[in-house]
Amino acid sequence: MLRNSHDIRTGNRPHVLVVSALCLGAALAFWSSAYADDGYAEYRDQFEPLPALPPIPADNSLTPERVELGNMLFFEPRISSSGVISCATCHNPALGWSDRIPRAVGHDGQVGERNTPTVLNSGFFTAQFWDGRAETLEEQALGPIEAEVEMAMSLEEAIARLGEFDIYHKRFAEAFPEDEDPINADNVAMALAGFQRTLNTPNSRFDRYLKGDLGAISEQEKRGMKNFADSGCVACHSGPALTDSQFYRIQVPGSEDLGRYLVTGEQADRFAFKTPTLRNIGLTYPYMNNGATETLGEAVEIMGQEMLGREYSSEEVADMVAFLHTLTGEMPSFEIPALP
Ligand code: HEC
Ligand code: HEC
Repeated sequence: MLRNSHDIRTGNRPHVLVVSALCLGAALAFWSSAYADDGYAEYRDQFEPLPALPPIPADNSLTPERVELGNMLFFEPRISSSGVISCATCHNPALGWSDRIPRAVGHDGQVGERNTPTVLNSGFFTAQFWDGRAETLEEQALGPIEAEVEMAMSLEEAIARLGEFDIYHKRFAEAFPEDEDPINADNVAMALAGFQRTLNTPNSRFDRYLKGDLGAISEQEKRGMKNFADSGCVACHSGPALTDSQFYRIQVPGSEDLGRYLVTGEQADRFAFKTPTLRNIGLTYPYMNNGATETLGEAVEIMGQEMLGREYSSEEVADMVAFLHTLTGEMPSFEIPALP
């Protein structure tokens, strides 16, 4: 006989028992995944979950007004000489805040020397650019506007263009209320840096695993994590963003770039590059400073050979690639701004 809706709504004893059994089951499952050990605790201990925000410098507080202005400027093409290139052209939110081409294409279709790194989690890096020529996001921000192969614009002109719009007068004044003449290069840099500090990707499956949800990653991904730690990848790819922001010598296939040497002039820095973040690495192909490495598997093999003198079996490579895919986090919320 069909039960009528009244029976279901009011319930009866068997339903209550089933519901309590389900709750008990869920509680047990939570307890066992939170407190039981999967045999990998000593490897888990070598990693750190990604916090929701990076350290915020004392002289650039992260106010909503600064973030909103930085968000506008990040998408503003009129600070490029062609009027069509913005930061988001190369650091495209739909492409992991990068561009998925080997080397960036900027002003007048010129191809630069280097692969575009993602700006996701860039507030966690203590060196910016492949060669570390800027330390902070504030220092970094004005470089691309002036770079001939990127936006090819003089800063004075960029500032003058912004000054043509009432909305920028209003927004700069709100973001920098203590300044008399707030539309200036320093404030453009501060706003862009502030916005980028909000572009973080916590809560990846790996973060959930590190925080105690032992079922958040598979057995294969755990084997990859173990090998990543055992082989010493974690010596350089360490900390919350899986980079130590240090420089190491490596000549990746097809690259003649002198790297850090171009900044320091030290022989020891020839062909040295910054350790890149591995957060969201599944989204930010192709790889390496010249973008010549197409797949994550090849990148793992090159790292094994060049950095650690190791030849990995295809199973080991597959396990590590699987692990690296667990580092894709929740994409940050931001607005496509309405520009003047
Ligand atoms: C034409 C493409 C292009 C444009 C436009 C561009 N970038 Fe970049 N960006 C790159 C490339 C390529 C690099 C790496 C350059 C290097 O290391 O020498 C980079 C590096 C960076 C980095 C350092 C990240 C790291 O991991 O070291 C940040 C941050 C950044 N850009 C932010 C910005 C901002 C902010 C703007 C707009 C003002 C901008 N970019 C405009 C291509 C671009
Ligand atoms: C000695 C420090 C060091 C060690 C050890 C190391 N790496 Fe790297 N890793 C780097 C540097 C530096 C680069 C950038 C190389 C370049 O493009 O010039 C890099 C690049 C990468 C990339 C490409 C990232 C991108 O965005 O282009 C991946 C993936 C990677 N490493 C994974 C690994 C794995 C897996 C291991 C262990 C097998 C490992 N690394 C060991 C320093 C290191």
